[in-house]
Amino acid sequence: MRFVPADGLVEGMVIGKSLYDKNHNLLLSKGSNIHSTYVERIKRLGYQGVYIDDEISADIEIKDIINDEIRMKMIQTVKDVCIHSSQGSKSKKQNKDLVEKKLDTTKQLIATIVEQLLINKDTMVNLIDLKFFDDYTYFHSVNVAVLSVVIGVGIGLDKEELYNLGLGAILHDMGKIFVDKDVVNKPSKLTDSEYEEMKKHSEFGYKYLKETYQIPTASYIGVLHHHEKYDGTGYPSNVSKDSISLIGRIICIADVYDALISNRPYRPALLPSEAMEYIMANGGLMFDVNITKVFARKVAPFPVGTYIKLSNGYTGIVAENYEEACMRPRVKIILDDEGNKIMPRFIDLKDDRNLRSVTVTAINNI
Ligand SMILES: [Fe+2]
Repeated sequence: MRFVPADGLVEGMVIGKSLYDKNHNLLLSKGSNIHSTYVERIKRLGYQGVYIDDEISADIEIKDIINDEIRMKMIQTVKDVCIHSSQGSKSKKQNKDLVEKKLDTTKQLIATIVEQLLINKDTMVNLIDLKFFDDYTYFHSVNVAVLSVVIGVGIGLDKEELYNLGLGAILHDMGKIFVDKDVVNKPSKLTDSEYEEMKKHSEFGYKYLKETYQIPTASYIGVLHHHEKYDGTGYPSNVSKDSISLIGRIICIADVYDALISNRPYRPALLPSEAMEYIMANGGLMFDVNITKVFARKVAPFPVGTYIKLSNGYTGIVAENYEEACMRPRVKIILDDEGNKIMPRFIDLKDDRNLRSVTVTAINNI
């Protein structure tokens, strides 16, 4: 399987991972062919690209860190929690009961992903953004929860701590339901006063969860702290270093990373490698440096299945990543330095002594 950016999609390609529409219904199932009319639709929905199956990538396996079904259920559940929390049509009691029910499902799903991620604890995250524009917040919340728990597992947190972390992470932006919708959904850069309004969401979410529902203290403190920065330049309280809860420090990194690799109406996505560079460059400044080191071990800057170009001019598909050398993957080489197709062969940038000077120079550029 390999990842093909939306611009590289052509009719007849075979879908490697099912795609869903904005109502979370199946749009294209695994194994089906892409029809020309779908190419435009895929782009319109906001997909950056699609996983496809073909001969050249048949021996490249992409391990899912959590399965699609759980991911889609989590997206729907967090969406339900937010929608019912902000609905004014029913009585307060009715709304609270509904949200409580949905929160119970969210809690069960978080417990499930903690189990899954503990089982898959040696698997690196190969996260390529597959969000639609419409449900950005919910997709983002689930990605932040998965990334946060992966970091938590890497740090060695116990099951209860991971559960508290995952729950805080999936609800981290809940407070946005109390911010003016026009500000939250504004498709361009916020003005200073709009930004001040937006900044209130971490405190709103914290208060709402603390005062209304049965949520572990560590989880809602994480919600409060998710925009605090390690050097004290964050909000709402400008706390720094260890005064920021561990959960808050973890969610902060996961939140920034996932936002950077997402297409937004006002800016295109960064590549995973560029987002990783940003996170690492800010270790000890915006982010806790020890957590950024764990992050760099667990999240692949060149996800499996993506095209990369090497400094020797060759092009290949990433086949495997290594925790201890995240910039030096195993690669299936398919084009030579003049762009000609060659008999595919695997090379290992981590172990091959002859390739010590070769680096990855570009990703997904073909
Ligand atoms: Fe936030």
